[in-house]
Amino acid sequence: LGPEEAAAEVARAWQMLSLRLGVTVASGNDLACEVVTASARYPVFVGWEILPSLGERLRVQGVSGRAFVISDSTVGPLYRKQVGEAVTGAGYEAVMLIVPAGEESKTLKVAGWVYDWLVERRAERGDFIVALGGGVVSDLAGFVAATFARGLAFVVCPTTLLAMVDASIGGKTGVDHPKGKNLIGAFHQPRLVLADAAMLRTLPAREFRSGLAEVAKHAFILDADLLDLLEKREDALLALEPETTVEAVRRSAAIKCAVVSEDEREQGRRVVLNFGHTIGHALETATGYNMLLHGEAVSLGMVAAARISEALGLLAAEHASRVGALLSRLGLPVSLKQVEVERVLAATELDKKVRGRAVRWVLLEGFGRTVVRDDVPEDVVRQALASLKS
Ligand SMILES: NC(=O)c1ccc[n+]([C@@H]2O[C@H](COP(=O)([O-])OP(=O)(O)OC[C@H]3O[C@@H](n4cnc5c(N)ncnc54)[C@H](O)[C@@H]3O)[C@@H](O)[C@H]2O)c1
Ligand SMILES: [Zn+2]
Repeated sequence: LGPEEAAAEVARAWQMLSLRLGVTVASGNDLACEVVTASARYPVFVGWEILPSLGERLRVQGVSGRAFVISDSTVGPLYRKQVGEAVTGAGYEAVMLIVPAGEESKTLKVAGWVYDWLVERRAERGDFIVALGGGVVSDLAGFVAATFARGLAFVVCPTTLLAMVDASIGGKTGVDHPKGKNLIGAFHQPRLVLADAAMLRTLPAREFRSGLAEVAKHAFILDADLLDLLEKREDALLALEPETTVEAVRRSAAIKCAVVSEDEREQGRRVVLNFGHTIGHALETATGYNMLLHGEAVSLGMVAAARISEALGLLAAEHASRVGALLSRLGLPVSLKQVEVERVLAATELDKKVRGRAVRWVLLEGFGRTVVRDDVPEDVVRQALASLKS
C-alpha cells in the first residue's frame, strides 16, 4: 500500500470499528464522519446552525474559485441570504441559480439550463458548485458538476433529512429519463458536506417523517444505539429538539459514510442500504410515484421485509413487530389498504427481468445483522404484501 491508501485503510477500519463499538466518529467541530474511497476523501459535518461556517470550512478543505450555488424555488428564497453571507464572508465570489422545486427538475432539460447559466457566467474548471437543497438539487447539481468542463468541485448543503443522511453522501448523482428514475448519472464525490440540522425547522413535517424512514433503516441494519435513541427519544426528535436531532442525523450520516467508504461503486456491501427498498420501490412504481413519499414507501417496505425475515425463520416475531412499532411512532405508514398485491409483486420482479437475476432481498437476522437472500419464495412475499393491507 502507498501512504495514501494506507491512511484510507486505517480511516476505514476506524470507522467500521467505531460503528461496531457503538461510538460515533465525532469531535468538537461537528465532524460526523469522513468518506474515504479510492477516488476521494471528504468530511461530513452535522450540527445546529452551522451554515454560517460554510465559507471557512471550504477554505480549510482547500476549495478555491467562484461559488456557483444551485438551489430550488422553495429553499433558495429561504436561505439565499444566509448562504451568500457564509460564502462571501470567507472571500469567495458567489452567484445563485434557482430551479423549480420538485422531482420534475431532475431532467436533462433542467441540467441544460444549468449548463447555459454556467457558460454565460464563464464558469471554469477552477470554480465550484454548491448544492443547497434536498436530494433533487444535490443529484442535479452533482450531475452538472460531474459533467461540466469535465468536472467541477462539488459541495453539498443538504436541507432535507433524506438528503442529510442519504442523498448528499456517497457521490451518486444523476437525473431521470422518461423511461426511468436516475437512469442518467455519474459518480462524483463532493469535497465537503455540511448539514445544518436547524434548516429542518422549515421542512414540511411530512417530508421530515419521510426522511426518518432512512434514519430508522440505518438503525435497523447497523446501529443499535441509534435504534435506542429513536425508540426512547422520538418525542424530542419529532419536536426537533436540537441535541437529539443532531445526534440522530450525525449517527445516521455516519452509517452511510461507513458503508459507501467500503463500497463506493455499489458492488458489494452497499446493497445493505436496500433494506426495505425492494418492496418500497415496487410500491412507488405500482402507485405511480404520486401517492407515497419515498420514505413512506420504504417504511412499508421495511415492515414487509421484517415479516419476510420472520416467515423465513430468520427474525424473532418480537423483533419484527418492533420494526413496525417504531415506524408507526415516528409517524410513518405501516399499513396501506390500497395495496394491490399482484401488481406490487410484479413490480418487485421487474429487477429480475431487467438484470436477468433473482431479486436480492436484504433481510434481518436481528437488529444490526443483515442477510442477503435471492431464494425468497414468491408466496412468502405475497403474504407479506397482503399483510400490509390491514
Ligand atoms: N444520490 C443518492 O444517493 C440519493 C439517495 C436517495 C435519494 N436520492 C434522490 O433524492 C431525491 C429526493 O430528495 P428529497 O426527499 O430531499 O426531495 P426534494 O429535494 O424534492 O425536497 C423535498 C421538498 O422539500 C423542499 N425543501 C427542501 N428542504 C427544505 C427546507 N429546509 N425547508 C423547506 N422546504 C424544503 C423542497 O423544495 C421540495 O419541495 C430523489 O430524486 C431521489 O432519487 C438520491
Ligand atoms: Zn431510500
